[in-house]
Amino acid sequence: MDATELLHDDHQALRALFDRYHELGAGDRAAKAALFRRIRKEIEVHAAIEEEIFYPAVRAANPVLAGPIVREAFDDHRLILQILHDVEAGTPGSDEFDAKLSVLRDNVLYHAEAEERELFAEARSSMTPLQLRLLGGRLSDRKHELGGRTYRRVPILGEARWVFSRVRTAVSRAFRRAGGETARARRASGRSRNS
Ligand SMILES: [Fe+2]
Repeated sequence: MDATELLHDDHQALRALFDRYHELGAGDRAAKAALFRRIRKEIEVHAAIEEEIFYPAVRAANPVLAGPIVREAFDDHRLILQILHDVEAGTPGSDEFDAKLSVLRDNVLYHAEAEERELFAEARSSMTPLQLRLLGGRLSDRKHELGGRTYRRVPILGEARWVFSRVRTAVSRAFRRAGGETARARRASGRSRNS
């Protein structure tokens, strides 16, 4: 899983959690409290891995173009975490809590869409597929350390297998090319001997 796929998966998980919260009835306070705890954890872990690993890597790959987009993303996170702490102070299921949670949802979804449109596109154009895969591995490992959801991958082994398969394909292509050139050279020298 590359870095943008992993972060997109986080966004989808958050979209689903917010949808589930808003589908719950007014009386489902315990379920709302439990869902809010999951939403809070998702947001905190997601923001941490982006700020510690993803944003610096995208900025380093293209400081001129990515710099302003990354700054904006940091500002978005600051606002989202402020709203999150404000929501946290309330009682899950109360009207005030639900209203604040809607504000949180709007800000998170707006940020996720902007990130997918601008920052992920920038990352894909300034980094190679291999760099994005390795970055995805680092994000996944950090997520695991922070107690976030994990993915069905064996961290080091999975990446090593993927890199090995790419190298094997490149080597066999080079051999095929070299074999074709040798055969052409033999045919050409055979023709010149016969003439
Ligand atoms: Fe983000």
